Amino acid sequence: MAEYEYETHDYDVVVVGAGGSGLRATLGMAEQGLRTACVTKVFPTRSHTVAAQGGIAASLSNMGPDHWQWHMYDTVKGSDWLGDTDAMEYLARHAPEAVYELEHYGVPFSRTEEGKIYQRPFGGHTTEFGEGPPVQRTCAAADRTGHAILHTLYGQSLKNNAEFYIEYFAIDLLMDDDGACTGVVCWKLDDGTMHVFNAKMVVLATGGYGRAYFSATSAHTCTGDGGGMVARAGLPLQDMEFVQFHPTGIYGAGCLITEGARGEGGYLTNSEGERFMERYAPNYKDLAPRDYVSRCMTMEVREGRGVGKDGDHIHLNLSHLPKEALHLRLPGISESARIFAGVDVTKEPIPVIPTVHYNMGGIPTNYWGEVLNPTKDEPNRVVPGLMAVGEAGCASVHGANRLGSNSLIDLVVFGRAAAIRAGKVVDREAATRAVNKGQVDKALDRFDALRHADGGTPTAELRLEMQKTMQADAAVFRTAETMKKGLDKMVSIAGKVDDLKVTDRSLVWNSDLMETLELTNLMPNALATIAGAEARKESRGAHAHEDHSTRDDENWRVHTISHIDGAKIDLSYRPIVTDPLTTEDQGGIALKKIAPKERTF
Ligand code: FUM
Repeated sequence: MAEYEYETHDYDVVVVGAGGSGLRATLGMAEQGLRTACVTKVFPTRSHTVAAQGGIAASLSNMGPDHWQWHMYDTVKGSDWLGDTDAMEYLARHAPEAVYELEHYGVPFSRTEEGKIYQRPFGGHTTEFGEGPPVQRTCAAADRTGHAILHTLYGQSLKNNAEFYIEYFAIDLLMDDDGACTGVVCWKLDDGTMHVFNAKMVVLATGGYGRAYFSATSAHTCTGDGGGMVARAGLPLQDMEFVQFHPTGIYGAGCLITEGARGEGGYLTNSEGERFMERYAPNYKDLAPRDYVSRCMTMEVREGRGVGKDGDHIHLNLSHLPKEALHLRLPGISESARIFAGVDVTKEPIPVIPTVHYNMGGIPTNYWGEVLNPTKDEPNRVVPGLMAVGEAGCASVHGANRLGSNSLIDLVVFGRAAAIRAGKVVDREAATRAVNKGQVDKALDRFDALRHADGGTPTAELRLEMQKTMQADAAVFRTAETMKKGLDKMVSIAGKVDDLKVTDRSLVWNSDLMETLELTNLMPNALATIAGAEARKESRGAHAHEDHSTRDDENWRVHTISHIDGAKIDLSYRPIVTDPLTTEDQGGIALKKIAPKERTF
């Protein structure tokens, strides 16, 4: 057994991750006087939310008529009718107050002439339950909205005495014999010490797992650490087959060019100079939802109308926009295009390609962020002491496809909801539970085995194999054959985790070991993704199955639940929530308004 000394810390709440949802949860907990720690592997303002560009959706009506019910309808339709209706109502209803709170905390939003928060159009956001014109619903701080939110929330959390443990890597959850979470074991990266955080509530805010793919807009830190820990704790992941490809990642580099660029009037063209989205989506054109635009771009390339010497990408045109607008509204992407594509956006188009951007699936939760461990009889069974928020969680508001700018609002609405719930369920007077030494030893043994791993497969080699497989076989379009091949390959790749080779055995700033721990987190996320995709015999949202090209509500309007244990995969299904939170006579939405229908643009 591995011998490591560790320091023990006691808190009411420990939040793992300091992106938008982690910081909003941390702030909300600390404001209520809960003793709150936020443990994060990167400095808070370097979390991936810092890269969020275009904005945060809320029906403020600053630029024209809007209503939370229209936002809810668009979210339901965007999800291709796979989201949970109660959570989608919660999101759209509470979005405006969550954004006003951000404004009052100090987020420097861009402003209209009258001094209101500026809002821009984004794909799939409309009026009149999809019957009216597009709406300007996305609140923006130029094209650096995530950056502005992150800095503000970090400052506010410090002001409210939240305690930060920065550059601590979470190894594993501590679970008791009754299935409740009681804490988390961490490795302090800069001095190699070990730490056990005992808590009455652990909140996983660890972000997505974009780095399971070869090309992603996600930071290299997006390694699905929460999903990995949950899978090892015997808990499930949900709807992992739904992976969003953002239409405009820079060709070759993968960096994001915000959808806000099209919101401000940019458009896509093929090798014939044609604005092809007019053909595919006569109403919404370049501002159709992302899954659809990504598929249209891929079809243009497949049919020989891609641009560039290999004809394998598409052009995003901004040069017709006034220079002042580019400077005021899109300064960040103008810079990214110059640095990463060598393009002056005032003169030339940006080469773009659909790029992995977001995971709709994650750790199943209810709309309070409480983690669920569903059984057939109890599909909404809560795991005591454990929450998941943000991209790590699956509430599920995005279903099979997320609308642009619904991610930032998800982070703050559900980070805030988790804090409200914790304020009710955490007993401040109770002592934290005694450390379960056996559980701590188990986590440290796993850590030690990886630290001394001496097989024949270097971490970077296995990671690349996984990334290339996922990129090729769980792509924008999928066939039964590619998914079966991808699944078989991924099972074999996951099996090679036992043959890993780590060369650096030190404990201080050991990036070889950290990347190995991250790989063991990416692996169950990737397996669940390809297995869920292979099993789902329909097309819905981001899951475009070429052998089953239509949506099948009768058989497949269900959440995929996956348990991953090493290379073993167990899939089951759970019903989606079809009832809204409130009924029509309580001021809620009429069920007939959100009944499933064909998704047209
Ligand atoms: O295009 C963007 O600015 C990304 C926004 C989002 O993913 O919500």
